[in-house]
Amino acid sequence: MDKDNGFFQGLAQRVLAEMPPEDRFSQADAEALARHKGALLALGDELVRAFYDTLFAHPPTARVFREGERPDREETLRRWWQRTVQGPLDEGYFAWMAKVGLVHVVRGVENPMMLAMASFVAAFVEHKTHEGGHPEAEPLTEAFYRLSMAVGAVITHGYDRYRALALYNVAGMEPALLERLTVEEAREMLEAIRKEGA
Ligand code: HEM
Repeated sequence: MDKDNGFFQGLAQRVLAEMPPEDRFSQADAEALARHKGALLALGDELVRAFYDTLFAHPPTARVFREGERPDREETLRRWWQRTVQGPLDEGYFAWMAKVGLVHVVRGVENPMMLAMASFVAAFVEHKTHEGGHPEAEPLTEAFYRLSMAVGAVITHGYDRYRALALYNVAGMEPALLERLTVEEAREMLEAIRKEGA
């Protein structure tokens, strides 16, 4: 179990380290969110409803869910919101997000769906804090965007890593080899496209 947690923690650390520090979710952002956790917590119920109304109104995302599953999903998202807003938004939190990414892979949730909903949550916070005339609406919105980007990056990078690991387990292809072949393939495609265009 510790070994697994180390995997998720390492994955999350690598992702965050790749983001330029100026744009990365920071300690100052975490503090801004912590100062207003009461106001953020109060948005929970409305956020959860809007989140699932959106997913259920769109056939490709609605198809992911099983009959009668919505109340359970609302409850897990409500708990995610409470844990997110209450913090701490530390290594353990981002390792948990990497694990949550894996849960979504198992259910066939694709990266574009995850990224769109990470953006949805940030836009919801922006809209609600401005609409409510919150005195720190701007810094709160910016902090939340960076948090959403970090969560989205951890989850989607996780998707790539699990795919590479699956290929290794099933076909014995080393992740480093897969990466090299991917780059080579992309280079060849690009060359072919450029030749066609010439
Ligand atoms: C910002 C985006 C999202 C967040 C933060 C999020 C968060 C979560 C969390 C915390 C869980 C519980 C994980 C666990 O049991 O350990 C969960 C489960 C689930 N989510 Fe999401 N989710 C997001 C986007 C989506 C999207 C876009 C879909 C579908 C289109 C989706 C469908 C599901 C499903 C089906 C489960 C249940 C998985 C299972 O236990 O079988 N989620 N989500």
